[in-house]
Amino acid sequence: MPVVRGKNIEQLFSAEVIASRNKEMAEEIVKGKTNDLLVISVLKGSFIFAADLIRAMHSAGLAPEVEFITLSSYGTGTVSQGVKIIKDIDSDVHGRDVLLIDDILESGRTLRFAKELMYERGANSVSLAVLLDKKVKRQTELEADYVGFECPDYFVVGYGMDVAYAFRELPFVGIVTGDAE
Ligand code: IMP
Ligand code: MG
Repeated sequence: MPVVRGKNIEQLFSAEVIASRNKEMAEEIVKGKTNDLLVISVLKGSFIFAADLIRAMHSAGLAPEVEFITLSSYGTGTVSQGVKIIKDIDSDVHGRDVLLIDDILESGRTLRFAKELMYERGANSVSLAVLLDKKVKRQTELEADYVGFECPDYFVVGYGMDVAYAFRELPFVGIVTGDAE
């Protein structure tokens, strides 16, 4: 089992498995969209997935425009939770076909906020691509159009995802299982 920063990390999805799924997803995305796609990577968690997925899209014959938005949740527990924009995109989405890319779809709040925001700004269509889908945590009706993998109900790290700012650099997705001996 890999040991990183003194912690045991159990691998859930290997770099190889992710790469091959990214290729399949890119091919699915290309079938649905032919031109003028605006990809928006939802930071920070999706930066590695988005980087790999857009390169897979290139190999599949698509040349998207790429943007970034940083979103953050606020409020916890019984306090009603919301999402705020930390850093916005620069492009005008009016009339555009938008593909939002995120790491995990969990409660659905983040991507529902982002999707509604893009429609409010006049996007022609908004679709969602996520690496992982944690369905049991969903609190809205939202579903992604493109899903890499169903994710078991564990807190996962790696491939862009962190716990307390650590482990984003791992090339695979895993679970912190405890302290290494
Ligand atoms: P939600 O769908 O709005 O609940 O939130 C999803 C966001 O929470 C993701 O974009 C991640 O940034 C973060 N997140 C949810 N579950 C995990 C996890 O297991 N590991 C790391 N980040 C997570
Ligand atoms: Mg996120």
